[in-house]
Amino acid sequence: MSEEVKVERKKRSLSLIQPTSIPTLGNYLGAMKGWSAFQEEYDTIYGVADLHSITVRQDPQKLRRQTTELYAMLLALGLDPDKGIVFIQSHVPTHSQLGWLLNCYTQFGELSRMTQFKDKAAKNAENINADNVNAGLFTYPCLMAADILLYQSDIVPVGADQKQHLEIARDIAERFNGIYGKVFTVPEAYIPKSGARVMSLQDPTRKMSKSDPNPKGTVYLTDEPGVIMKKFRSAVTDSEMSVHYGEGKDGINNLMTIYAAVTGKTMDAIEQEFAGKGYGDFKTAVGEAVIAELEPVQQRFNQFMQDKSYLQACWTKGADLAQRVSQRTLDKAMKKIGFLLK
Ligand code: TYM
Repeated sequence: MSEEVKVERKKRSLSLIQPTSIPTLGNYLGAMKGWSAFQEEYDTIYGVADLHSITVRQDPQKLRRQTTELYAMLLALGLDPDKGIVFIQSHVPTHSQLGWLLNCYTQFGELSRMTQFKDKAAKNAENINADNVNAGLFTYPCLMAADILLYQSDIVPVGADQKQHLEIARDIAERFNGIYGKVFTVPEAYIPKSGARVMSLQDPTRKMSKSDPNPKGTVYLTDEPGVIMKKFRSAVTDSEMSVHYGEGKDGINNLMTIYAAVTGKTMDAIEQEFAGKGYGDFKTAVGEAVIAELEPVQQRFNQFMQDKSYLQACWTKGADLAQRVSQRTLDKAMKKIGFLLK
C-alpha cells in the first residue's frame, strides 16, 4: 500500500474591492493597507470585484478606467504578481459559475437580512434617476461567498462593514459541507484593530464612502496633498477644545482613529501629544501624517498608470493563475452536486 504524503499548504488570504471609484482612505485603512504584509506568510489572492460593481449602473468607459486604476493601485500598494495572485474578477469565469450554484444553497430570508442590501435598496429606490433595486443587489453575498470559497481562503482581511457578508459566506460553506462533506474551507474575517470603520470627515456618524455626494467628506488615495490637507482642516468636530476619545465626540474620535491607524500610536499617546493644543494643530498633524503615508503610494500609482502593457501582462497572469486554482474547487463542488464533468 502506498503511503500518502501530505504536503502542508500555506494558509490563504483573499480579499477584493469594487472599482466604483479610486479607493478611499477608509478602504485603505480598513483593508488594503494590510494586504501586502500577508504575501510573505500566506498564499495571497487579491482582486478587483468588477462583477460586483454592476449591481449599481456603471458608465462603461468609466468602469474600464476605474478598473485599470484600481488594478494599478493594488500594485502601488505593494501587491506583487510574482508573489501572489492579483486579478480582475470578470476575467475568471469560475466566479460567476460558483456564484450561481451558491444562489441555490442560500435562503431568501438570509439574504433579506443583509444590512447592506437593505441600505443600498433604500438608497437606490429613493433616487428617481436610478431606481434599480435589481436581483444582483440581492444575491450579491452569494457571489462574494463564491469569490472567497473558490480559493479555499482561510482569512479575509476586510473592514468592519463586510463582517455580515463574511458570516453568510461561512454559513453557506458550512451548509454545503454539511450536505456533501468537506468541499470548502470555512473562512475567517480579519478586521484590523484600528481603522476598521473610518467615518466621513463631514458627517462622522456615517461611514466614509466612495459614493458620498459630498466630496469633502471622503479622502481619495490619489488626492493631491493640498486637497487632503484642506479636507482635514475642514473636518467636522465639536465645540470642545480638547483632543480626547469619548462619547459625543464622533469627529475627534474619527480623526484620532485615522491618526492611530497611520502612525501606530495608541489613543493615550495621541491624547498626551496634543494635551493643551487646539483642534487646528491636531487636524494639521492628521493631514500631514496621511499625506506622508500616501506620497510613496501615489508615486508608484502614477508610474504604473504610465505602463498599461505591464498592467495588462500582470492581470493576464493573475487571471490564468486564479482560473487554475479556482477551477479545482468548482469541479469538486459540481461533482458533489451531481453534474457530469466533461
Ligand atoms: P468595498 O469595495 O466596498 O470596500 C473594499 C474594502 O474596504 C473596506 N471599507 C472600509 N473600511 C474601513 N472604513 C471604511 N469607511 C470603509 N469602506 C470600505 C471594506 O470593508 C472592504 O474590505 N463586497 C466587498 C468587495 C468584495 C469582497 C469579496 C471582499 C467582493 N468580493 C470577497 C472580500 C472578499 C465590497 O463591496 O468592498
